[in-house]
Amino acid sequence: MAKKIIVTGGAGFIGSNFILKHITDDSISIVNLDKLTYAGNLRNLESIADHPRYKFVRGDIADRELVRQLLREHKPSAIVHFAAESHVDRSIRGPEDFIKTNVNGTFALLEETRAYWTELSQEDRQAFRFVHISTDEVFGSLGPADSPFSETTQYAPNSPYAASKAASDHVVRAYHHTYGLSVLTTNCSNNYGPFQFPEKLIPLMILNARSGKALPVYGDGKNVRDWLYVEDHCEAIATVLRRGQPGETYNVGGWNEKPNLEIVHTICDLVDEMSSRLQKPRRELVTFVKDRTGHDRRYAMNASKIERELGWKPKETFESGIRKTVHWYLEHENWVQDVTSGSYRQWIETHYSA
Ligand code: NAD
Ligand code: TYD
Repeated sequence: MAKKIIVTGGAGFIGSNFILKHITDDSISIVNLDKLTYAGNLRNLESIADHPRYKFVRGDIADRELVRQLLREHKPSAIVHFAAESHVDRSIRGPEDFIKTNVNGTFALLEETRAYWTELSQEDRQAFRFVHISTDEVFGSLGPADSPFSETTQYAPNSPYAASKAASDHVVRAYHHTYGLSVLTTNCSNNYGPFQFPEKLIPLMILNARSGKALPVYGDGKNVRDWLYVEDHCEAIATVLRRGQPGETYNVGGWNEKPNLEIVHTICDLVDEMSSRLQKPRRELVTFVKDRTGHDRRYAMNASKIERELGWKPKETFESGIRKTVHWYLEHENWVQDVTSGSYRQWIETHYSA
């Protein structure tokens, strides 16, 4: 019989990439619990909607009764926990949902998981895994000469988003230390690829560049992020699920630090190449706008532990990954239309008019 996994937040960017990839493994069946916030989109998963080893359940991870009932019904051998509010700018404008989902929601999920896990046979209890998906942003900001974040870097979260993820990481950690629950945490750098909601840097710039709209670069454009293609992240999570050591944390990154302006210029050149030309090169659409409050200057990940201990390293180079990504957004007009209506337009208007 296929091993059952509950994935939370599987209708979002990384969760849907994870499900699409891992449903092809016949030894696994997946239940996707997602609240379908503005960031959740079932269109990402329409190709597998009727798959016999996939089931979607709409609901909130903070709804303990629902989580309890799902655990009882499906008896999973693992939970892969993606569900979160994930956008830094939104966390600055309205932090409350970040505390509700990322902190209280993770706590509710852990409490129900603990109750379920305690009742399992000793063998099933040992085999059970809870993989918590977190971020490099919990470590704060690096100076230009600082070494990349490692698993032992002290937490110093700066945005409400980062603080809520840091809080959830600590609660997850405590469930291993105190109760012996087999939790594993991955802290990953910035992802890019298909199905990312176009409020984040890369898809926003692709879509604006395509339409000849201004490209709003915060501050001086020299903030640095370490970019990883989403499929590489999903493979890292699957590796941690299969072979990770319970109680451990693993940093995941692309060894690929780049300043934002360089990313935006690369996108402009690719859109110029792949779609109809404008009268001027798209690089001229770059517009420097007011900086994000408390904007972290640099993130960089030392991902040598997961490579050394579990044998994972990224397959995609930035050059090949960004080319595929630009191509994907230009080819998926229907998906773009679907996600850029209604509440999306409202966000763009409010956020970029300030
Ligand atoms: P996303 O915003 O695209 O998707 C989040 C998903 O969670 C959505 O489908 C949403 O509907 C769902 N969700 C939100 N609140 C929920 C709730 N209370 N109950 C159930 N479902 C809920 O996010 P993403 O970019 O796919 O990120 C997934 C995870 O990976 C997050 O935990 C994030 O912190 C982490 N992460 C993201 C990145 C990145 O670059 N995107 C990097 C490192 C780590
Ligand atoms: P983002 O994709 O929001 O990810 P994060 O803040 O989690 O790293 O932003 C990536 C970088 O791009 C970050 O330094 C902020 C910057 N940025 C812009 O310059 N303009 C934009 O319109 C957005 C959304 C982000």
